[in-house]
Amino acid sequence: TVLVVDFGAQYAQLIARRVREARVYSEIVPSTMPAAEMLAKNPKAIILSGGPSSVYAEGAPSIDREVFEAGVPVLGICYGFQLMATTLGGTVDNTGSREYGATPLSVSKSSSTLFEGTPDEQQVWMSHGDACSAAPEGFTVTASTNQVPVAAFENDERKLYGIQHHCEVMHSTYGQQVLEHFLYRGAGLTPSWTTESIVDEQVAAIREQVGSKRAICALSGGVDSAVAAALVQRAIGDQLTCVYVDHGLMRKGETEQVEKDFVAATGVQLKVVDAADRFLDALSGVSDPEQKRKIIGREFIRVFEQAQAEIVAGAPSDEPVAFLVQGTLYPDVVESGGGTGTANIKSHHNVGGLPEDLEFELVEPLRKLFKDEVRMVGQELGLPEEIVQRQPFPGPGLGIRIVGEVTRERLDVLREADAIAREELTAAGLDRDIWQCPVVLLADVRSVGVQGDARTYGHPVVLRPVSSEDAMTADWSRLPYDVLARISTRITNEVAEVNRVTLDVTSKPPGTIEWE
Ligand code: XMP
Repeated sequence: TVLVVDFGAQYAQLIARRVREARVYSEIVPSTMPAAEMLAKNPKAIILSGGPSSVYAEGAPSIDREVFEAGVPVLGICYGFQLMATTLGGTVDNTGSREYGATPLSVSKSSSTLFEGTPDEQQVWMSHGDACSAAPEGFTVTASTNQVPVAAFENDERKLYGIQHHCEVMHSTYGQQVLEHFLYRGAGLTPSWTTESIVDEQVAAIREQVGSKRAICALSGGVDSAVAAALVQRAIGDQLTCVYVDHGLMRKGETEQVEKDFVAATGVQLKVVDAADRFLDALSGVSDPEQKRKIIGREFIRVFEQAQAEIVAGAPSDEPVAFLVQGTLYPDVVESGGGTGTANIKSHHNVGGLPEDLEFELVEPLRKLFKDEVRMVGQELGLPEEIVQRQPFPGPGLGIRIVGEVTRERLDVLREADAIAREELTAAGLDRDIWQCPVVLLADVRSVGVQGDARTYGHPVVLRPVSSEDAMTADWSRLPYDVLARISTRITNEVAEVNRVTLDVTSKPPGTIEWE
């Protein structure tokens, strides 16, 4: 394990991902963790992340000297670099010489483990106020910039390395190489964290955890629950039963994808509950977004509980249903450990968000994985591309993409319009460029149009293509006009009730990705 010590910026997760891209397993720990506890994890290397503080600020996070003295290779990045410098007797000044953004870096490679094989002059990404002016004793300065005399240093004997720049961001041209040099050459690690090894490790862990008992899993049609279920299926076969609640709010073809393609690929036992009528009844007459979300969440739990009770009742007594599979991902684990109180903007309904009084033990085979790794595992397990590469889709489904009351007729209209938009985006090869593209039906709005010499009085749909890294912030995607034109022409021609197609050009914030 490589430990990434999080000094409170958003960089730690990115560093952990880059380490894993180098096929080395990494884990994030908070900087408040005592050194003894970090070292007890027996790390093969430690990386100190950047952070928002100045090392001189009151209450700035620090690191125990012990970390540098245990013989574990350490790489300090940005704040971690400065902390390393001050802790080991170097000098960091508040010079006022700030560097921010792409910056040319001069490196002296002859004596460098980190920079070997990279150009003398390279572009790196900087983001700091304080600057290091003297390296600790025994360290060699290996890079500098116009502003900063000591932009990197190394002590190869003690396996301690530091860089002022952010090697983890893509604007640092040789960043990944520098990181890999630290991992492979500095720390002597080998790239062995592969998709195959992840699958093997998880399958073994699941077998060990579940034994001869049974497990259930709620499938949502999304990537996470599908991959989690497929992994558990691989491990324990028919001891697993999946439940798919069809709430009638899915997009065109999605329920069939789960019912047919997923089952064909995995051989999983699947119980499909067709609850569309029940959801639509409960939603009848309701237009308020929060209200809709609550109703959908509540009904989901009720339907799932009933299905689960039937499965539990049907299990043999020597193999009781004792486990619930959830597709929790590593960022959720890291973030819930961080305990930051972010405002509840929308009450999110997750298929995983099941009641707390369930008498099950959780099986969470994706707890260690980032999203891209989950997709790779899905591929390795032979899941269909449409499931593995699926873009995010909210738990409440199309129910929160109809502004106004949700009815069967309106769902049909939106489903058709959405299917056309998706088809055209896929045909234009844009699926990987956009994060997701909600299509929203403004069901209570009407406008006058003309078609075939006749007056129409139809509804508008809104296209909401966005690009994003994590859905916390987003920008509207600059889709090619010809693609937009094709989508617009097809929707207005093929979906009789829709006579206008509009484009949402709002970023998040101030907008959110979904309209409700
Ligand atoms: P917003 O609209 O808050 O959406 O900018 C951020 C991301 O979350 C998805 N989303 C949900 N996902 N249950 C989910 O599982 C929900 O209730 C839900 N609401 C929004 C949304 O599609 C986007 O990717």
